[in-house]
Amino acid sequence: MSATIIDGKAFAAKVRAQVADEVTKLKSEHNITPGLAVILVGEDPASEVYVRNKGKQTVEVGMNSYEHKLDASTSEADLLALIDKLNNDPSVHGILCQLPLPDHLNEDLVINSIAPEKDVDGFHISNVGLLGTGQKSMVPCTPLGCLMMLRDHHGSLSGLNAVVVGRSNIVGKPMANLLLRDSCTVTIAHSRTKNIEEVCKAADIVVAAVGRPEMITGDWIGKGATVIDVGINRIPAPERGEGKMRLVGDVHFDSAKEVAGAITPVPGGVGPMTIACLLANTLTACARANNLPEPEGLTA
Ligand code: GUN
Repeated sequence: MSATIIDGKAFAAKVRAQVADEVTKLKSEHNITPGLAVILVGEDPASEVYVRNKGKQTVEVGMNSYEHKLDASTSEADLLALIDKLNNDPSVHGILCQLPLPDHLNEDLVINSIAPEKDVDGFHISNVGLLGTGQKSMVPCTPLGCLMMLRDHHGSLSGLNAVVVGRSNIVGKPMANLLLRDSCTVTIAHSRTKNIEEVCKAADIVVAAVGRPEMITGDWIGKGATVIDVGINRIPAPERGEGKMRLVGDVHFDSAKEVAGAITPVPGGVGPMTIACLLANTLTACARANNLPEPEGLTA
């Protein structure tokens, strides 16, 4: 039997609607409008698309969006001065500096100069440490989106065997920490893992975040497992015409869906959840900054 398709697009729309409701309440009951500042350095076309989408969706849920587009040659001192200004601006509750940065800028230094409580990406070393020790933190958006979908599908995750394929700081490691916090038995698999197929096949949950198109095929998946595909890879699609491309995940969808119990598609799975969770994080940061209760179901 074919797997249940987890509809990330519909789920993200639900999250955004909940965020929009909470923003309406914040405005009418407390006269507060959450604000998200996004910094883009340079002209990377993919980053420009992401930043435009973030700004559009921020405004759609009723928040203030502040976009700071800086020249590719901006100095580290100027970028740090802007971050310092935003850190001290009470109308800004979330700050995101779009990555990758141009080579002359030290990414770690820049990220760690954002005030941790405004770090809606959850990349600041303080937030990484808080998450790793099970304390309240800002949680990276993509893993948060994956967690929301898993909780929605399974209810409790307690005791389930989860394999995270990929060990990046942005997805793999925080995902593993979140699953551990929900009492999964967690394995992080990567390019050096022995018998990786068998490791995946024994899992109740597989989260694929390696960045290799269609690497995980149906014969890696245990019967009835839940598969969350974080990959977004552009590959040639000659069947659509010369020079055409298509998007695929890290999972070979057609073979995996024949064995899995549930699976996220690409596109339309994890992707839309990332910006929805960015908005959720901005709302959470705003609630915390104003000593208000955090909205339910939008945090880890
Ligand atoms: N570039 C690609 N994904 C992301 C993200 O989630 N956050 C930031 N800041 N930059 C990115």
